[in-house]
Amino acid sequence: MDNVTIMDHPLIKHKITMLRDKNTGTNEFRTLVEEIAMLMGFEALRDLPVEDVEIETPIEKTSQPMIAGKKLAIVPILRAGLGMVGGILNLVPSAKVGHIGLYRDPETHEPHEYYCKLPAPIDQRTILVVDPMLATGGSGADAVTMIKQHGGKNIKFMCIIAAPEGLERLHREHPDIQIYVGALDRQLNENAYICPGLGDAGDRIFGTK
Ligand code: PRP
Ligand code: URA
Repeated sequence: MDNVTIMDHPLIKHKITMLRDKNTGTNEFRTLVEEIAMLMGFEALRDLPVEDVEIETPIEKTSQPMIAGKKLAIVPILRAGLGMVGGILNLVPSAKVGHIGLYRDPETHEPHEYYCKLPAPIDQRTILVVDPMLATGGSGADAVTMIKQHGGKNIKFMCIIAAPEGLERLHREHPDIQIYVGALDRQLNENAYICPGLGDAGDRIFGTK
């Protein structure tokens, strides 16, 4: 699939396996989500634009690259996406953070919007949408649609685990965006949970049930 990158780094694979383990507790789970987001972010942000700026080393004046322009907006899909924000901010501390609130109806599995706040000027930023799980793809696809409606153009989507159904849907509805996936799993079950997956990401990050 064009525009889709499935991560292949042993460190990411190792940490995702730890995340899947049902014996991994909330504290360790949070740390792992943040670490995986940072490792994936390193790859997803490899094309951030840079521009040369004048600085002076102890030896001489020189022109060297720094991140250019209005830079980055990180946009977590609430709630679980919040767990990934710190990892990306470790890489780009100057990034702005927007929020999109969506929850899946437990019966229909359709996403419902409850919040949207994005940093201006959104049309001039690289936008990294983060959510640990891409299951049916409904939440991810709706989040990207909302960002486009607000003027967002250069959009990337990053998830830790995707189901084939969700990846296919997000790519079909938004073929223009770059998608980064930590691990591509086998399938969805009858409750639209990813198999083998890691269970409910939001509950595991926040310790709810
Ligand atoms: C989870 C997850 C995604 C969504 C994925 O959130 O964090 O946002 O489900 O499912 P989909 O691809 O089928 O839309 P959830 O709706 O459980 O909300 P929460 O993060 O507040 O727990
Ligand atoms: N949301 C989750 O948190 N986990 C899944 O497996 C599917 C949707």
